[in-house]
Amino acid sequence: MPFSPVTIAPKRASAQLYRAIGGTHLAPLSSLRQFSNARNTPTSKEFFLEKKTEKVRKTPAAWPHPVYSYEQMEGVVVAHREAETMSDKVAFQAVKVLRWGLDFATGYKHDKATALHATDPQAAKAKYGMTEEKYMIRNIFLESVAGVPGMVAGMLRHLHSMRRMKRDNGWIESLLEESYNERMHLLTFLNMSQPGWFMRFMVLGAQGVWCNALFFAYLISPRTCHRFVGYLEEEAVITYTRQIKDIDAGRLPKWEKLPAPSIAIDYWKMPEDRRTMRDLLLYIRADESKHREVNHTLGNLDQVEDPNPYVSDYKDHARPHPCKDLSFQKPTGWERSDII
Ligand SMILES: [Fe+2]
Ligand SMILES: [Fe+2]
Repeated sequence: MPFSPVTIAPKRASAQLYRAIGGTHLAPLSSLRQFSNARNTPTSKEFFLEKKTEKVRKTPAAWPHPVYSYEQMEGVVVAHREAETMSDKVAFQAVKVLRWGLDFATGYKHDKATALHATDPQAAKAKYGMTEEKYMIRNIFLESVAGVPGMVAGMLRHLHSMRRMKRDNGWIESLLEESYNERMHLLTFLNMSQPGWFMRFMVLGAQGVWCNALFFAYLISPRTCHRFVGYLEEEAVITYTRQIKDIDAGRLPKWEKLPAPSIAIDYWKMPEDRRTMRDLLLYIRADESKHREVNHTLGNLDQVEDPNPYVSDYKDHARPHPCKDLSFQKPTGWERSDII
């Protein structure tokens, strides 16, 4: 699994490694600091130095984002699709393992926190309380992982189409666009927090393992992979819902007035009076809910013959059908018999 470098690294060895490459304090790696730079600076010159050229005025997003209304985004709900087939169950178990690894790697212990909170709220807050920095670490890692499946699936379908000299029926574009969207999430968070060397190391290791694992998994069972991503996105919706709730409850004071970075304002076309961190999380959560729906839907289809329902033109436009924006939300995916 992509989290193994973290899960197996003994604390002492990690601290030695940290010292060896010039770390300035000796805390073990499981603590927060190594994941991100000690001071989260609002400007990220290293990542986002604007390249000025003589002739280019601006380079907009290659895939323009559909417009979401505030009501639609507030209407996004946490949902779970029951695992029915063997393939569903394998996908769900794989997500559970991944989720455990991610929780471990990013110090996120919601279930334990909830249990302790019931008996001792103060102790729960001190021991498990999520801060803005901890959430940011989690988000950056989550997004760096989330941008891989669509690219791998899109690439494999692209190669398959050329190799078999057959049409793909529109799947490739949606899959690549999903990856692009996830990378925009990552770039947005990177605008707000620069990861430290340990976080970069984790992303590197995770990408190496994760990308290759997905490559083979998608060759073996694309249906299981789409279901797996559907379940993964269910978790992403849960994570962002918690962050929004924590802001509303006053538990993340630094985020209450934090403005969204300009990359996000441009990409999501955020209206002038809706440009806070909370608004940004609403947009990102809505995107995750869309990925959840798209992948559960693709997991219900014939992987070879069926057209991509998200780019198809329907005979009856008035009837609810899959679409790129949030007009018709179907959290657990569309059933094949309803749309093909
Ligand atoms: Fe994302
Ligand atoms: Fe996603």
